[in-house]
Amino acid sequence: MYSEKVMDHFQNPRNVGEIEDASGTGTVGNAKCGDIMRIYLDIDEDQIIRDVRFKTFGCGAAVATSSMATELVKGKSVQEAMQVTNKAVMEALDGLPPVKVHCSLLAEEAIHAALWDYAQKNHIQIEGLKPPKSDISEGEEEEEY
Ligand code: FES
Repeated sequence: MYSEKVMDHFQNPRNVGEIEDASGTGTVGNAKCGDIMRIYLDIDEDQIIRDVRFKTFGCGAAVATSSMATELVKGKSVQEAMQVTNKAVMEALDGLPPVKVHCSLLAEEAIHAALWDYAQKNHIQIEGLKPPKSDISEGEEEEEY
């Protein structure tokens, strides 16, 4: 059911952990399954992502996609990191079963949320970047109505 790459990244996830005083952090949740992902980015003055860590409270596919997504954005510029879509992550993992495609969205959204946090803190604009829609706190507020 899962490709070898998915199994590898699930069993040996890369870049797990936190970054203290991160340049940007993003936390997103999947409303359907309740899984949560947090991404930490360390970005230098040239807007290059020097380090990235993640924590995922989620399924195996979410762990594997976050792990691969962190590998793909590491060393990239913030603009290049925008190209790391869930599709790109899935391709890098040799695909995911259709029922697990939504899990790969968490990684993309968490990276975008962390980039947004970084952009806000530094008063810069990243082309194509939109405010995170599934930020946990916002999600809770929206749920009431
Ligand atoms: Fe929730 Fe995969 S089932 S992220």
